This record gives sequence, C-alpha cells and structure tokens, in this order.
Amino acid sequence: MTHPFNADSFMKFSNFGQKFTHRSGILQLMDDLGQAMSGNSDMLMLGGGNPGHIPEVQAVFRQRMEQILEQPDTFEKLIGNYDPPQGDQAFLIALADLLRETFDWDITSENMALTLGSQSSFFVLFNLFAGEFPNGKKKKILFPLAPEYIGYSDLGLSDDFFIAQRPSIEHIDDHTFKYHVDFEALKITDETGAICVSRPTNPTGNVLTDEEIQHLVSLSEQHQIPLIIDNAYGLPFPNIIFTDAEPVWCDHTILCMSLSKLGLPGTRTGIVIANPEIINAITGYNAIFNLATSGLGSQLAIEMVKTGEIISLSKDLITPYYQKKADQAINWLSESLQGYDYHLHKAEGALFLWLWLRNLPISSEELYDRLKDRGVLVVSGHYFFPGLEDDWQHKHECIRITYSQDDKTVKNGLEIIAAEIRRAYDDV
Ligand SMILES: Cc1ncc(COP(=O)(O)O)c(C=O)c1O
Repeated sequence: MTHPFNADSFMKFSNFGQKFTHRSGILQLMDDLGQAMSGNSDMLMLGGGNPGHIPEVQAVFRQRMEQILEQPDTFEKLIGNYDPPQGDQAFLIALADLLRETFDWDITSENMALTLGSQSSFFVLFNLFAGEFPNGKKKKILFPLAPEYIGYSDLGLSDDFFIAQRPSIEHIDDHTFKYHVDFEALKITDETGAICVSRPTNPTGNVLTDEEIQHLVSLSEQHQIPLIIDNAYGLPFPNIIFTDAEPVWCDHTILCMSLSKLGLPGTRTGIVIANPEIINAITGYNAIFNLATSGLGSQLAIEMVKTGEIISLSKDLITPYYQKKADQAINWLSESLQGYDYHLHKAEGALFLWLWLRNLPISSEELYDRLKDRGVLVVSGHYFFPGLEDDWQHKHECIRITYSQDDKTVKNGLEIIAAEIRRAYDDV
C-alpha cells in the first residue's frame, strides 16, 4: 500500500492520528501480508501470522455453517442482531463450563468477555494498566522476556509505554538455543502496571516453562499487579504447542485466548478470562468502541465447545499439522545452512522459526530488503523488542520465518532465504 500522506498533511493529524500513519512494524507486516495473500502476487509469504488452512478443520467449520443455514432463524439472528458487549452469553457459559471442568479453574461466564480479536483485547488491557493514572503517576507494561510479539508495539496510547528485559540464552546444541526469563535482572517497580508474556511466544516459538510462569505469578501476587498471558497459540485450543506445559489461570492472571489460530482469523474473536472487575471494563470498552462483539466466531465454535471437541480437534488435527511443518522447515533450513553460524530457537510452539544469524555482516533489516527483492517476505527481528531500550546487536541478527503456509511455498522460500544468508556471510 502506498501511504497517501505527505509531510504537510501528516502534520495535520493529532498525536493519536500519528500513531496510525507512521510506518510501524505491524503496519508493514499487515500490508505485506494483505498483498501476498491477495492472490495476485507471486510473493512467498513467510512473514505473516496467518494460520495454515487445514482441510479437516475447515470441513468441520463448513459443516457447522451449513447447520446454521439449515436451522430456522439461526442465520437471520446471527446476521440481524447485535450481540451484547460482553459477547454471546451461551458461548461464554459453555466455555467457562469447559475450562472449569477441564482444568478445575474457579471461573464462570462472569470471568469472561469476547473482543474483536485478541489484538483488541491487548489494546484495552494494556491501556487499563499502563499510561497515566488519576493520581498523576505513570505506569508501564513490562515484558519480562524480549523478543515479544510485534503487534504489542503500537498499542499504548501514551509514549514510553513499555519496558522489556533481555533474556538469558541457553545453547541446547551447536544450532539450537532457548531463551529464558532472566529473573536476576528482572526489576518490578512502582512504575510496573502489569506483566505480559505470550506463551507460546510469537516470534520465537518459545514456551515459558511451568516454573517460569509460576515465578511470574508469584511476582505478580507479591507486587499486586496482573500477569497477562497471551495464549493465542496455547492450551487447550488451538494447542499449537509441542512441549509439556500447564495452562494457568488464577486471581492475578488475565488469560487472553483467540479463535484465530484455530482457523477462524476472519471472524475476529478474542476471549479474555479475568476477574469480573476487569471483564466489566472490557465490556465497557466493547460497548463504547464497537457497540457489540461479533457473533460469527462464537456461533461457529459453540457446539464444539459444548461437546469438548474443540480440545480433541486441536490435539488431534492442529498440533500434529504444525509439528510436522516445524520439523520439516527446520530440516530444510538446517541442510542448506550447514557450516554457517546459524542458530534456531527451539521450536516449542506457534507458527514460526526464529533464526539467529550470529555475526551476520549485514543487518536483519538489510536481509529483509534483499529477500523482498527476491520475492520472499520474512520479518526483521528488530521489530520484536518493544520496550527494550539498549541497542543490543542481537536485535539486528534475527529474522522470523513463518512455516504455516503450504509446503511448496515454505520450501521454495527457505531455499531463497538460505541462499541469501550464505551470500551475506560469504561476501565479506
Ligand atoms: C502472540 C499473538 N497475540 C495476539 C495475536 C492477535 O490475534 P487475533 O487478534 O487474531 O486474535 C497474534 C496474531 O498473530 C499473536 O501472534
């Protein structure tokens, strides 16, 4: 997309307006994604977060849609009525029942609200707990482990909104590493409004260990601040997670889920699980900004929530689909980068390989440009450090590669990526 604003007209916008017109990472990513997915492009899209199209899962949703169309009045109600701002009540009750029975969590539908996608959940949650407070104090959202999700970067309504902590790095073997929260360096102060982690993490595929999560829970209890856990890829659905991990919900946590990676990104359905006071604020936000939530995702998923099939479908179809794609992508890339100083984050979940090219003679931004010229889209790693102020070389040595697209696209894309990396290392 070309941006129609020249410097003069751009200056006419308020500070609020400038947020949406400056060249942010998420804008570039969604532009690239939209163009590559438009059907008129030969670009190999290894840059976005679009989930794969899994035929067996799509068939289940198609069948459910046919049922909706056949049942008298159901379709007409779905398109003809606004849902309440907290979200479709029947869906919220069914989901609270399922999670209570499965995990023994002490929740009811009063602990839940829907949003128009979890991206919008993070917008409201971050601005509830950070920014300026009535007593004049300023607070920030703390990411205890950067790299973190690019989509968080521009969600704050005021400046200087995030703070982040570098990870410690465990080298698992010559070409595999894993980030950990560096608890010794982690500082929680009066300025910390909330802690936030994505688990599995976008962009790295990291899954914070149960111990790390428990440690963060106790810090949040100790400091009386919420721990926001972004569970967009996590348990029990869509379950794009290849390692053992316990899902967590307790009084101090806010668990954010989504139907997107289950295969329904087009329905824009986010789910927030939190204490009723927070749910009340989310409901108010929905009413003021959107009037209502969308009932499409909840209606497509409600029957599988009632029967629990949403959990088995995730485990039986979605997990193995992505596990195979991750293994394949790692094999393809490792074969073509043999002998080079490359390091892959251990793929524990989500849709991405996080590739660290140690001492690469060019920056990850330059590599992104070279790859785009050759028809492959990835995302430069430097975007994934919201709140990390120090200029850490590591930020410019990593790229994120999505492996959720069809095998041919991924294989061809990885070949070009490896060729450009070899050229960059060899050209010194
Ligand atoms: C970690 C993470 N959180 C949240 C989102 C937002 O997803 P949605 O708004 O589609 O629910 C994404 C999307 O890619 C993501 O990767």
